[in-house]
Amino acid sequence: MKNKLIMAIALVMALVAGWAATTTTAQAATDNSLAKVQKKGTLIMGTSPDYPPYEFQATVHGKSQVVGMDVAVGKKIAKDLGVKLVVKSMSFDSLLVALQTGKVDMVISGMNPTPARRKNVDFTHTYYQGGYSIVINKNDKGIYKDKDSFVGKTIGAQTGSTMYNESKKQTSGTTVKGMTSVSDLILGLQSHKLQGVAMEKPSAQAYVSNNKELAMIPSHFDLSASDTSASVAFAKGSTSLVAAANKSVDQIRKQDLVNKDYLPAAGKYLKTNTVNTSMLHYWKAFLKGIEYTLIITVCSVFFGFILGVLLSLARMAQGGVFATALRWLATAYVEFIRGTPMMVQVMFVYFGLGLIVNLPALMSGIIAISLNSGAYIAEYIRGGINSVDKGQTEAARSLGMTSGYTMRYVVLPQALKNIWPSLGNEFITLIKDSSIVSIIGVSELIFQSNIVRSDTYRGVAPIAVIMVLYFIMTFTASRILNHFERKMQHD
Ligand code: ARG
Repeated sequence: MKNKLIMAIALVMALVAGWAATTTTAQAATDNSLAKVQKKGTLIMGTSPDYPPYEFQATVHGKSQVVGMDVAVGKKIAKDLGVKLVVKSMSFDSLLVALQTGKVDMVISGMNPTPARRKNVDFTHTYYQGGYSIVINKNDKGIYKDKDSFVGKTIGAQTGSTMYNESKKQTSGTTVKGMTSVSDLILGLQSHKLQGVAMEKPSAQAYVSNNKELAMIPSHFDLSASDTSASVAFAKGSTSLVAAANKSVDQIRKQDLVNKDYLPAAGKYLKTNTVNTSMLHYWKAFLKGIEYTLIITVCSVFFGFILGVLLSLARMAQGGVFATALRWLATAYVEFIRGTPMMVQVMFVYFGLGLIVNLPALMSGIIAISLNSGAYIAEYIRGGINSVDKGQTEAARSLGMTSGYTMRYVVLPQALKNIWPSLGNEFITLIKDSSIVSIIGVSELIFQSNIVRSDTYRGVAPIAVIMVLYFIMTFTASRILNHFERKMQHD
């Protein structure tokens, strides 16, 4: 039995790995990228809006949006192609994956066309030349001069960025800490977890001009071997799309649109943006986060419960080869899901399954969490069913009830009473754990708090707010569930 179980699990894993290997190599040989974009009428731009003046979150006409010079570049390309620009926010280190898996059509995010990146995606001509700086606390101004002054100290850089790699390569005796978002790095700097943060010079300027406690110093990285200019990335092989975008990019360069137009506009947003930093001002954003968190949780527990019932029945199937196979499959599934992190499952459904069917982020999140939750709920149900005395089934069967009927009308109702508390716990756990889907850009509570953080440049307040909000949600849920539990015990 054990051996067969191991074989079943190995089979599932081999299938997953094999499928992943084939799908990534199966690139279309003919290029219809331009026609495709024009047909759907939208050009989806992926970006990491933590990088003023390139891209950042700002409240425009009462609405929080992504603005900045890169958005202007994207708008120009879209306009020249005769389509509408759609901006999709995500963390910098998932941008290229999103591009390769077709979640976005292009990436504009102050991205340098490095040789390593060129292997996986295609770049347009460059539209802007940045250069690298280091942001420090103003009080430390006499202490740090450039990248070599941080011996025994810690500098931070965005994970997946060129600054991270160069900092690792070109400093010695310095700890280099990677974080997903530049806003978090700045917070780390202000709370003295980091002594410096490496980033592009225009961004350093933006952060410094927006915050009196910060200052900047030259990096003095040797950048002779790397390309530090920004370009637009497209999926590998989209020759027609790149050629079309190059026309727009060349115009931007020739007319110096970035300096003349896009940067001043971005600067204006930066100035007007920090006007209202009260958390109350953002109640709508938090409310939206709560709404999405609850939608994900309720849907996932619902579908997870259905899946859980099916799985637990499959795991208890009796007789015949078919029943045995069913049992193994269900067991392998439960073991596999419980043995892999939910975060990986969420990314797998969104990016991996996304290669076959392009699911929106919210749906991917609900699917992944339901699939995950189903495995756990199956175990609760199995435990609940097993806890119903065998004599009950025997009595029902001897009264002439079929086994299905017995299950449905005798065993399950009693089992449900035992399962209810665990099911409630699962619901409460999911309110908290559903926050994982923020990594694929679903607007749940954590995601919204990140937006508020980058909008207001306030680090701790949004975290405190969502902490309280999560507690209110879980506490209310547990009160409600307790009420029903007590009621069930009575009847
Ligand atoms: N230029 C650097 C790179 O290409 C960092 C860009 C970071 N961009 C951002 N939107 N956070 O790796």
